[in-house]
Amino acid sequence: MKFKKRRWHCLPGQPLTELDKQVMYWENKGKEVPTRDLIKTPEQIEGIRIAGKVNTGCLDAVAAAIRPGMSTQEIDDICMQYCKDNNAVPACLNYEGYPKSVCISVNDVVCHGIPSPDTILKEGDIVNIDITTILHGYFADASRMFMIGEVSPQAERLVKVAKECMELGIAAVKPWHYLGDIGAACGSHARKNGYSVVTALGGHGVGKKFHLEPFVPHVGEVNTGMLLVPGMTLTVEPMINEGTYKVTTDAVDGWTVRTRDHKLSAQWEKTILITETGTEVLSS
Ligand code: MF3
Ligand code: CO
Ligand code: CO
Repeated sequence: MKFKKRRWHCLPGQPLTELDKQVMYWENKGKEVPTRDLIKTPEQIEGIRIAGKVNTGCLDAVAAAIRPGMSTQEIDDICMQYCKDNNAVPACLNYEGYPKSVCISVNDVVCHGIPSPDTILKEGDIVNIDITTILHGYFADASRMFMIGEVSPQAERLVKVAKECMELGIAAVKPWHYLGDIGAACGSHARKNGYSVVTALGGHGVGKKFHLEPFVPHVGEVNTGMLLVPGMTLTVEPMINEGTYKVTTDAVDGWTVRTRDHKLSAQWEKTILITETGTEVLSS
């Protein structure tokens, strides 16, 4: 007899729940389903929710302080202090050797920009600040764009459209629909506005680790990819470029990701929970 390897495992000795039945129904129809560990328990969800509040608070503290003339190191210091004051840990610090607490990506830097006392924010810059906080072992991840002083109309439009891409991506998340719906929404809005979408990096599951399954692409087709099941927690974080979608990673620091053509890039990120009816934002 041919044995089909399942992704979804029922709990031994326990009756099937409605959720088990529904996931197995779609798995039997050949759809890609999550593994059980991607469906967070109420306790885990509460853990991520609380970490999310601290993470959002940290971004708020940065928002209140950011100004032209400030170094990106000063922003890193604010985040570090905020985490200390809230018994939290900045997840980026020492993550796979990353040297700072926050990622700060200015203009053509797409993501993973390393804070430095030598990088001074100046009028006209567009800046992504990406913060991930760990509280009692749970992670929450979010980023926002900041416009320093007055910026060009082109830069402002990119920042606005990138935010809309994230919002439309999140609005596309519905339980018992598919992961590809997110990328379809982000991608079509970006293209409609003459922009490209970075495909080399994407969103991810979040929980007791920084980056969990599934990888969340920001381009895609509706009704494709993994089934979205209530209890999953993930990030939506489209990186939207003015020019080419192609990126390069700095050969010297090994982290800084830039647009290949050095045109501008913008990104917004939220951590969300898939609920029975839609989504709950856990950090923004
Ligand atoms: N916060 C980023 C993300 O959204 C990851 C940063 S990893 C680091 O997934 F090591 F660069 F900090
Ligand atoms: Co992030
Ligand atoms: Co992320």
